[in-house]
Amino acid sequence: MADLRFDDRVVVVTGAGAGLGRAYALLFASRGAKVVVNDLGGGRHGDGSSSKAADGVVEEIRRNGGTAVADYNSVVDGEKIIKTAVDNFGRVDVLINNAGILRDKSFAKISDADWDLVHAVHLKGSFKTTQAAFPIFKRQGYGRIIMTSSNSGLYGNFGQANYSAAKMGLVGLASTVAIEGARSNVYCNVIVPTAASRLTEDILPPELYTELKPELIAPVVAYLCHESCQENGSVIESAAGWAGKCTVVRSNGSLLRTKITDGVSIEAVRDKWEKITDLSKVERVNTIQEATGALMASLEGLRSNQEENGEEDSTSYEF
Ligand code: NAI
Repeated sequence: MADLRFDDRVVVVTGAGAGLGRAYALLFASRGAKVVVNDLGGGRHGDGSSSKAADGVVEEIRRNGGTAVADYNSVVDGEKIIKTAVDNFGRVDVLINNAGILRDKSFAKISDADWDLVHAVHLKGSFKTTQAAFPIFKRQGYGRIIMTSSNSGLYGNFGQANYSAAKMGLVGLASTVAIEGARSNVYCNVIVPTAASRLTEDILPPELYTELKPELIAPVVAYLCHESCQENGSVIESAAGWAGKCTVVRSNGSLLRTKITDGVSIEAVRDKWEKITDLSKVERVNTIQEATGALMASLEGLRSNQEENGEEDSTSYEF
C-alpha cells in the first residue's frame, strides 16, 4: 500500500520547538505537510520566552527539504497561531495541541499562580487554538485535532494535581469537540504519551528514559490526523513503540430499591456496595446516550416491578 502523505496539508503543532512536538513537526514535514512550528520558547515552568526553539526546528525541517514557518506566540493567543498558518500557507488542516509546562507541587502547596498558569497553557491554550481553527475545518469539510493528555490526568500522580486536572479537562474538551465536528469530517482525538523530554528528564527512571523516544509516538499522532483515519473522540495511549485505546467502563451496578415508590437508604447503598463497585463484569460506555439509556432501563425495571405488584406509579423521573 502507498505511503500515507500530507502533501498540500497545513499542520500546526504547538510547543513544537522540542520534545514530542518537534518529533511531530519533523514527521509531518517529511511526509509533505507545510508545518507551523509554534513555540513560546520559555522555561519548563512557563517562565520567559525565546524564538530559538521554534527557529531551530524550522531550520531542521528546511535542511531536510521540507516547508515550515516559525510562530512564537503563546497558545493562550491561539488565534494568532492559526493566523500564522493562514497568512503563510492559505489554509490549515491539522492542529496538534501539544504545548505544555509543569508546576509540580503537592496539593496543599499549590498556589493560585501554579494552578492558573498550568490551566492557561494546557486547557485554555488548547481551547483558544482549537476554537480559532474549528470554523475553518468545518467550512472545508476536513480537519484533524489532537489534544494531549497524560496518565497523570487519567490516573493521578503525586505532586501534579494542577496538571492532572488540566490534562483530564482536555479529555472532556476533546469528547465534545469530536461530537460537534463529526458531521463535517472534523475529528478530534486525544494522545496520552510517555516520552523522554525536558518535562520528564527528572521524573522517568534513567534506564526507561533512553528508550522512550518521541519519534516512536509521532507516527501514531500522524496516523490519527490522516484523512483516511476515521477514529474520532478516542483516547490513544502510546509509548516505546506501543499504542492502545483507553475508554470509560462502568460496572453492571446494582439497583438500590425494589419499587419505584421506594426511597434509597444509606444502608441499602452500604449493603450493595460490593456489587456497585464490582468491576469483574464491565460495560463500555461510549456515549452519553448509552449512559442515560442504562438508567432508563433500570427505571423501566422498577416500573414493571411496580405493575406486577399492582401498585400505581405516582413518581415522575427526569434525567
Ligand atoms: P517539552 O517541554 O519538551 O515540550 C513542550 C514545549 O511546549 C516546549 O518547547 C515549550 O517551550 C512549549 N511551550 C510551553 N508553553 C507554551 C506556550 N504557552 N505556548 C507555546 N509553546 C509553549 O515537553 P514534552 O514532554 O515534549 O511535552 C509535550 C506535551 O506532552 C505536553 O503537553 C506534555 O504535558 C505532554 N505529555 C508529555 C509526557 C511525556 O512523557 N513527555 C507525558 C504526558 C503528557
